[in-house]
Amino acid sequence: MAREDSDQAIWSLSERLFATRKLTLDLAAPLSDADATIQPFPDASPAKWHLAHVTWFFESFILRDHVLGYMPFDERYAFLFNSYYEGEGERHARPKRGMLSRPSLAEVRAYRAHVDEALERALPSLPKAALELVELGIHHEQQHQELFLTDILATLAENPLEPAYGELPSAACFAVKPLAWHRGRDGVVETGAAADGFAFDCERPRHKVYLAPHENAGQRVTNKEWREFIDDDGYRTPTLWLSDGWAWVQQEGVSAPLYWLDDETEFTLGGRREIDWAAPVTHVSHYEADAFARWAGARLPTEFEWEDFASSADPMIGNQLDHGGAVAPRPGGGTFGDVWEWTQSAYTPYPRFATAEGAVGEYNGKFMSGQIVLKGASCATPRGHSRASYRNFFPPAARWQFTGVRLARDA
Ligand SMILES: [Fe+2]
Repeated sequence: MAREDSDQAIWSLSERLFATRKLTLDLAAPLSDADATIQPFPDASPAKWHLAHVTWFFESFILRDHVLGYMPFDERYAFLFNSYYEGEGERHARPKRGMLSRPSLAEVRAYRAHVDEALERALPSLPKAALELVELGIHHEQQHQELFLTDILATLAENPLEPAYGELPSAACFAVKPLAWHRGRDGVVETGAAADGFAFDCERPRHKVYLAPHENAGQRVTNKEWREFIDDDGYRTPTLWLSDGWAWVQQEGVSAPLYWLDDETEFTLGGRREIDWAAPVTHVSHYEADAFARWAGARLPTEFEWEDFASSADPMIGNQLDHGGAVAPRPGGGTFGDVWEWTQSAYTPYPRFATAEGAVGEYNGKFMSGQIVLKGASCATPRGHSRASYRNFFPPAARWQFTGVRLARDA
């Protein structure tokens, strides 16, 4: 690469890096140290932990590994803020992340500043391999920005005072059009991320799949439709449910989406709100999505049907995928991107999938067991983070993310 091109590439990377780092701090601005310390349940992390963990990622994989003489901010932090990287050694137990009253939120901010300054100094002379890890670190931090919001929602939802995190984006974020069915393409199609541009390893390699004749719903299932499912005893009819799903409904006593408080209101990042019946239902599990689809005489799409629909059915959709929501409100609402959409596909490797060398090889591949693929993006997904090939994944019972439902059916 010519010198000027490479300077330009580093400048653009640096701009995106520090914009991402700043957005995380902006998201934390409304929180007290106490707000940022609570862990509402073992799968959700305290806000303070997210702020520090994404910083540890840059400190370990870029500064420690590629910058001679880098002095860590505090050597003990690697134990506290390593999430799941076995290659990085022992770590603090996940369910105990909420026990960390120290370091304080102010100390975590100082940690971030220390690492940001070191990154700024190091960027112009980093080798290509390290620059690729900076790119990965940006996308990693964006993933945590969404988790930050869903975890703070879960935290505040525990408080009977019903505190609001902040103002919600306008209802336009959830504009829903009338349901229409769209015939998908069938036959052999290509799926997955192209070889160029950023994508996570699990989105590659691009490969061929066969799609049977099918139709996709043009819109997500709404709160109003979900209400009809409840009123029709959907949660009390075992024949609608997968066996694991029915066991989960019984065990957890589930009878509505996670944050519905009563027949008319729900808990949101803006505090208690009237349920918007025209908005897409959100905070439902894969089990609920699957039962709803059966009740509606339909099914969930496969991840390949979804991806082909998103990338080929409507040229506008590709653009719409590129807008964020709560982080960067989507103007006018869209066909995709307000809620993550459960598919029926298990999260498994594509043919010839290969993990990266070193510790970052633990990023995705080792989670390919017992998880379901979600497609699209949500109101809490940072602008520019998603794409048609994106594969989000969660266990089938998870519902604290902004998860919703799009129906498909055989044609
Ligand atoms: Fe992480």
